[in-house]
Amino acid sequence: MNQPIEMSMRNRTGIDRSPVDSQKMIDAANAYMPSSRGNGSALMDVEARYIQEADPVGTVAIPGTLKGAAKATMQMLAGRNAEVLVDKLGERLAFERTGTRLYDYFINKCEAAKSGAPISIDTLKRFRHEEAQHFMLVAGALESLGADPTSQTPGADVSAVASGGVLQVLSDPRTSVDQCLEAMLNAELVDNAGWDMLVKLADDMGLDDMSRDFQAALNEEDEHLMEIRQWYEQSTLAQAGVI
Ligand SMILES: [Fe+2]
Ligand SMILES: [Fe+2]
Repeated sequence: MNQPIEMSMRNRTGIDRSPVDSQKMIDAANAYMPSSRGNGSALMDVEARYIQEADPVGTVAIPGTLKGAAKATMQMLAGRNAEVLVDKLGERLAFERTGTRLYDYFINKCEAAKSGAPISIDTLKRFRHEEAQHFMLVAGALESLGADPTSQTPGADVSAVASGGVLQVLSDPRTSVDQCLEAMLNAELVDNAGWDMLVKLADDMGLDDMSRDFQAALNEEDEHLMEIRQWYEQSTLAQAGVI
C-alpha cells in the first residue's frame, strides 16, 4: 500500500513497448484515411444546436412565506438578484458538506497508510471540523434569506459534478497520501475562490453581518489552502529526493 512512485515492466501503456506493432498501427493510420470529407466542425455544429435548445441545469426554489428577519433582509435586497446569492450559497453548502467527507476520507487514508508524509492529523481534524462549521454557517445564511437549505440549487448541482473526481480519488483504496493531497489541493483551491466570491457578493449587497461571517470562514479557508499546498509540495519534493 502507498508505495513510492516506482518504475515497472507492468506498465505497458506506451507505444514504445512494442515498436513493431506500433509501426504497423501508424502505417495503417496513414494508409486508410477517413472515408468522409470534412472535419470536426460538423460535430461542433450539432453540439451548438443542443446548447441552444437545452433547458438550464435547474432553478432556484422560491422561498416559502417570508417572516420577520428574512422579510427585512429580502426587502433590503429589492432590485438585486437575490437568487444569484441563494444559488452560490447552495453551491457552497453542498461543497462544504462534501469537504467534510473529503477530510474524513483523507484522515482515514493518512492514519491507515502511515506514509511518513509531513502531515499533522490533528490539523486535518481541525480543518474537517471547520468545513462542518462552514456548512452550518451557510445553512444559517440561507435561512436568514428565507431560503430552504435542503433544496438543491443549480450551482450545487454543477459543482457536485465538477468535484466528483476528487471524491473518487479520496475514496479509492489504491491512491497514495500524496495523490490524495493533490486532490485535496484541487478542492481547497475551488473552496477558497468560492468563499472569496461569497464575501464579495454579501459585501456588495450590503449584507454586513453575512459578509463578516464569510470573511472569518475565508480566513480559515486560507489556512487550509496554505497548509495543504505546503504539504503537497514538501511531500513531492521529498519523494523526488531533492529535499
Ligand atoms: Fe470549505
Ligand atoms: Fe477548506
